[in-house]
Amino acid sequence: MFDGKHVVITGGSSGAGKALAAALLERGARVTLIARNADKLAAARQELAGAADAGRIDIESCDVADAEAVERSFGEIAARVGPADVLVNSAGILSEGPFESLPLERYRAIMDINFFGVLHCSRAVLPQLEAQGGGRIVHIASMAGLMGVYGYAAYCAAKHALVGLAETMRIELAPRGIRVHLVCPPEFESPMVDELETYRSAENRALVTTLGVMPIEPVVRETLRGIERNRFMIVTGRNARAAARLARIFPETSRSFMDRALSRARR
Ligand SMILES: NC(=O)c1ccc[n+]([C@@H]2O[C@H](COP(=O)([O-])OP(=O)(O)OC[C@H]3O[C@@H](n4cnc5c(N)ncnc54)[C@H](OP(=O)(O)O)[C@@H]3O)[C@@H](O)[C@H]2O)c1
Repeated sequence: MFDGKHVVITGGSSGAGKALAAALLERGARVTLIARNADKLAAARQELAGAADAGRIDIESCDVADAEAVERSFGEIAARVGPADVLVNSAGILSEGPFESLPLERYRAIMDINFFGVLHCSRAVLPQLEAQGGGRIVHIASMAGLMGVYGYAAYCAAKHALVGLAETMRIELAPRGIRVHLVCPPEFESPMVDELETYRSAENRALVTTLGVMPIEPVVRETLRGIERNRFMIVTGRNARAAARLARIFPETSRSFMDRALSRARR
């Protein structure tokens, strides 16, 4: 499915984006990594080139929150590498803290990157996918897009917004030959979580880690398997799948589980 395809990956210099790039290179894809920090991008390219043909890896420094810069970058990528067949929206940021004290600028930054960044990139890639007669857009959302999480007011709001966007894009783009995938992982090992660990609240840790912290490899494996099976919603990890099902079918039971986990953490 990915052999010879051009996959553009936002957030491709780190964490899930970089790990997906490695797995896609193994499957014969060409990848373009997008992120802001040019040094981190160059380091990621060098690391990935250790296991794959460096000629199949391109990098582009761009802030996905900047709509004009995104338009420009996608044009430049198409001119340099060719049109995209697949877009993976993995770029994201996270802050934990009580909803009333998390600074408003942080709410805006999280919305700008985790929601509007995805929107900008999806709109910029659309003409390229359509010109090729179809393609795929993969959104890396989160379990925090499916339920409330202590300390994640801004992050949950942005990921819930992304879930709504993805549901709508799926309906609108299917007749045009473009498949949309919504990936909702629980917490997994990554630089984002390493940073979170330096300041996160006990309540947040207790709640989030109830589902377990996944190594990144199964997240990538299950994501690619879900895409290959044309699944829209891809929840990675058995515990997360059970929690997502419980939240959908028995939302009150799911909330009382969370309340109990929280009161245990406070004891
Ligand atoms: N880690 C988890 O436990 C977890 C769980 C569920 C969902 N997720 C989601 O999975 C995705 C990847 O997370 P991760 O843990 O792999 O994160 P990560 O290791 O921190 O990587 C984030 C990537 O996004 C890029 N990025 C951030 N802001 C950007 C911007 N404005 N423009 C362009 N690129 C930007 C970063 O590079 P620069 O800083 O250089 O721009 C980096 O490449 C995120 O959407 C996250 O919300 C993560």
